[in-house]
Amino acid sequence: MPIIAPSILTSDFLHLGRDCQMLDESKADWFHLDVMDGRFVPNISFGMSIIKQIRKTSSKFFDIHLMILEPEKYIDEFKDAGANSVTVHLEACPHLHRNIQQIKSMGMNAGVAINPATPVNLLMDIIADIDLVNVMSVNPGFGAQKFIPHTFQKIKELKSLINSTGSSAKIEIDGGVSLKNASKILKAGADVLVTGNAVFSSANPKETIKKLKEI
Ligand code: DX5
Ligand code: ZN
Repeated sequence: MPIIAPSILTSDFLHLGRDCQMLDESKADWFHLDVMDGRFVPNISFGMSIIKQIRKTSSKFFDIHLMILEPEKYIDEFKDAGANSVTVHLEACPHLHRNIQQIKSMGMNAGVAINPATPVNLLMDIIADIDLVNVMSVNPGFGAQKFIPHTFQKIKELKSLINSTGSSAKIEIDGGVSLKNASKILKAGADVLVTGNAVFSSANPKETIKKLKEI
């Protein structure tokens, strides 16, 4: 069964508590929390103080996706806010290995995200050290964008890199995932599905999550 990780980016921020409660009661496995700094990506979302409040609504696994420059400055604060896993962007981290060690030294899972134009083989020398690869299937910065089909090829390449190195990293697909393409994404080798818009724009979000989980 896939791991379902709804992103709250397209939830109703005026009723964030209610929407998080819904996720807590749903079949969602993880909360996917998108942090944007207006520098690495052209948008600003929310930070650790909001995550700390969300933590009060659920004890589920918190998967923090940092779309920020210089993530090393804030890792301990995300840990304090309740993170279980922190993912940094390869493109934002000249000292990626150090960032991963820092996250792991705090007892959290560590992930690396790659943008649509970043080749999978750049992960070769870090794949054995990480718990998660976030393959971005849209350009990061906004919810409700269209899935980029080339992602299927990247999932296959990543799966074979993981198998050939004995890595235990999970493959997470982030952006434009819906009930329409989820089964093809899973068949290609993905383990974790991030879904924002497909969940929050649906008439019955809990039911949509249940359907994704049962694919
Ligand atoms: C994009 C974020 C994603 C995205 C997912 O920058 O990392 O998590 O919001 O949302 P949907 O499913 O709406 O593409
Ligand atoms: Zn994300």
